[in-house]
Amino acid sequence: MNKSDSMTILIIFGITGNLAQKKVLPALYALYSNNLLPKNFKIIGLSRRSIQIDQIFVNSDIPQNNHQQYDNFKKIFEIQQFDSNDDQAYINLYQQFQNILQNQPIKLQLLFYLSIPPDIFKTIITKLGSNRLNQFNDQMQIRLLIEKPFGYDLSSAQQLISLLNKYFNEQQVFRIDHYLAKETVQNILIFRRFNPLFQTAWNNQHISSIEINTLESIDIEGRVDFYEHTGALRDQIQSHLFQLLTVTTMTLPTDLNNNDSIHLARHSLLANIQPMTNEKTLATNTFRAQYKNYREEVHNPNSTTETFASIRLEIQNSIWKGVPIRLTTGKALNEKKSEIIVNFSAVNENHTNQLTFRLQPNEGIDICLSVKKPGLDQKIQTTTMDFSYKNSFSNHYQPDPYEKVLLDSFRGDNNLFATSNEIIDSWRILQPVINYWQDHPENLKYYVKGQSKQTILC
Ligand code: BG6
Repeated sequence: MNKSDSMTILIIFGITGNLAQKKVLPALYALYSNNLLPKNFKIIGLSRRSIQIDQIFVNSDIPQNNHQQYDNFKKIFEIQQFDSNDDQAYINLYQQFQNILQNQPIKLQLLFYLSIPPDIFKTIITKLGSNRLNQFNDQMQIRLLIEKPFGYDLSSAQQLISLLNKYFNEQQVFRIDHYLAKETVQNILIFRRFNPLFQTAWNNQHISSIEINTLESIDIEGRVDFYEHTGALRDQIQSHLFQLLTVTTMTLPTDLNNNDSIHLARHSLLANIQPMTNEKTLATNTFRAQYKNYREEVHNPNSTTETFASIRLEIQNSIWKGVPIRLTTGKALNEKKSEIIVNFSAVNENHTNQLTFRLQPNEGIDICLSVKKPGLDQKIQTTTMDFSYKNSFSNHYQPDPYEKVLLDSFRGDNNLFATSNEIIDSWRILQPVINYWQDHPENLKYYVKGQSKQTILC
């Protein structure tokens, strides 16, 4: 058997769901159109109800302007009706793969993509594991791709990890956080490593505070069950914002391509954040709010789910001690903006440098500088030095983060995926916030749709 004698099959649970239709299928189509999918590649979409592939495609965000390409893409698909509660369905699937192996001496790479609500994770993981769909050997290499949120709190995350450990190795589990795969986020490590100007100043002697924001103008867009059960803290802070925090502040390993070192660096950083323990600190350093009309949208007049969350924390190591870090996220705001703002210690209150990683929109980096205003007198003005991807790399292909996570999982490269240690530590840090908010529903504030972050927080 040589390297080309292999087949990759992506098996998608939840093919008719919002995520598959809006993100996963368009990303697969883009990879297909750019000839980036592995050789000998197939997709099996699993759906509870009987459905035709055309129906799935029509409802998805796959571009339909190239009919030939669109029709060819369909040919690598197979849709199966599948009851994820029924063991027999898994036995049949296993048999289907065995038949492939019996007919041709190849290596089968199978990726199970769990694009489903988290409450069904346990059932599917257990049934995959107990029906031999967890193998990792020379003939059959099975991996799992799991969407966030990974767990609901610390104890449910621990239980999920124990369940996974029962059937799968850590190396087989790919926990997706699409923020890590954004071009602008991957660039942060490169920026930090290869610009000596900033390297020496990347610590509490030169940096006075950091702000990380993922602000959205969209509301929950009908994802009622998901959001009511999740809220802004679990939906974004536990995952995206913590990952942005780690890439911004972790100690860089010597080799940025060594996945173990990267995972260790991300985890060590999180391990240095102490959870807030007393109520006074929790009251001062955490904030949550809900947009008006949310309760009508979710048909729950008593809902205390937050659609806006902001927390302030500190990293307790010698590099970052004393630097306040604020993480903020929210829906139905006046703008869509994800950014990381690094404030350098001021020479005096008017003269400081601010470095902003603009993740979206208008991806790029800007640096705020103090300069002499032209003229005969000595006036100082603030101006901005601006790098934008659009201007500097206008002709370059900028893949969607889902293209990157899919491609990396096909290659077995887990650099951009969260490990169980990172997951546990993020919940460990947030658990007291979850408890405090639960015990103090009266602290929930309200805002009107379209309000700005600043006006909500003040
Ligand atoms: C998802 C959240 O992970 O990220 C959504 O579940 C959110 O609620 C989305 O809208 C935002 O992603 P992006 O890439 O548009 O900022």
